[in-house]
Amino acid sequence: MLDGLISQLYANALDQLASAETLDQVEAVRVEALGRKGKLAEISKEFGKLAPEERARIGKLLNTVKAELESKIETRKASLEAAALDARLDAEWVDLTTPAPGPRPGSLHPVTQVQQEVEDLFVSMGFTVLDGPEVETEYYNFDALNIPADHPARDMQDTFWLEDRRLLRTHTSPVQVRGLEKLGPPLKMIAPGRVFRNEEVDPSHEHTFYQLEGMMVDHDVSVAHMIYFMKTLLSAIFHREVTVRLRPGFFPFVEPGFELDIRCLICNGEGCPVCKQSGWVELMPCGLVHPAVLRYCGADPEVWNGFAFGLGLTRLAMMRYGIDDIRLFSSGDLRFLTQF
Ligand code: DAH
Repeated sequence: MLDGLISQLYANALDQLASAETLDQVEAVRVEALGRKGKLAEISKEFGKLAPEERARIGKLLNTVKAELESKIETRKASLEAAALDARLDAEWVDLTTPAPGPRPGSLHPVTQVQQEVEDLFVSMGFTVLDGPEVETEYYNFDALNIPADHPARDMQDTFWLEDRRLLRTHTSPVQVRGLEKLGPPLKMIAPGRVFRNEEVDPSHEHTFYQLEGMMVDHDVSVAHMIYFMKTLLSAIFHREVTVRLRPGFFPFVEPGFELDIRCLICNGEGCPVCKQSGWVELMPCGLVHPAVLRYCGADPEVWNGFAFGLGLTRLAMMRYGIDDIRLFSSGDLRFLTQF
């Protein structure tokens, strides 16, 4: 009778083992069959009641079954453990030879992008790109541009003064003088760069911003030449028709002087903080170079004349990308910068 129970136990345990898929399930099979209170232990309790010759035979059988099961359980455990290790190694595999990803590639600042585009355009039309100092002398920033010390135009360009009477340049116009002085006429030049004003900061005013100066000096230069270059510039930048208007404007270094305005591209002329609700944005003051400036540069105004313009590069970038707050440009905020 015990033979039957033992072989049933053995067959059951093997079945369960075959379907066990985790180490816990294998352990449960072991406890049920071989544990201290397991089935084999239960059967062994009957052992004492057997005749001596039966005892020897059943004892042997019990030992064999126990040893067999133990070894089968160990084998099953080992293969599950190996499978678990394989899965883990697969999941946690790291290629130590892969190069590190390195810093994320950046992009050019929107103002720099616009500046480079304008530079390319003017270079293609034969203009030279010039640079000038950001810390400027009073002479180049004002006097040589026909703005003497007592001229009210100085009040409109309040800036940061150094203790030696030099100043942070309020515009790129001094590069007109430096350029013409150095290279002489005829000259077609642009000068992009950073300028400074002692400004109350608001959505359209910053103490630090970018301008691009342009000047052409040659024989018989007219307002028609000037308008041609401005129109070429604007259609290249905005890739579309923009509405412009030219109205008289006063700047001591040009005569006559004009303001070129464009219809605000943020609000389409309806009125917004950028255009101060007027629907127009002053983009390019311009005019014919004042004879006094030519003289300061050593060019004879009887022989030479020209036009000049000052482009608000920062403002142009705002119009181009539809940015309604100038302060974003210098915020260093990557959520803003990575859009360009
Ligand atoms: N420099 C002037 C400013 O920043 C702008 C300007 C006006 C530049 C007329 C010019 C010009 O070249 O012709 O306010």
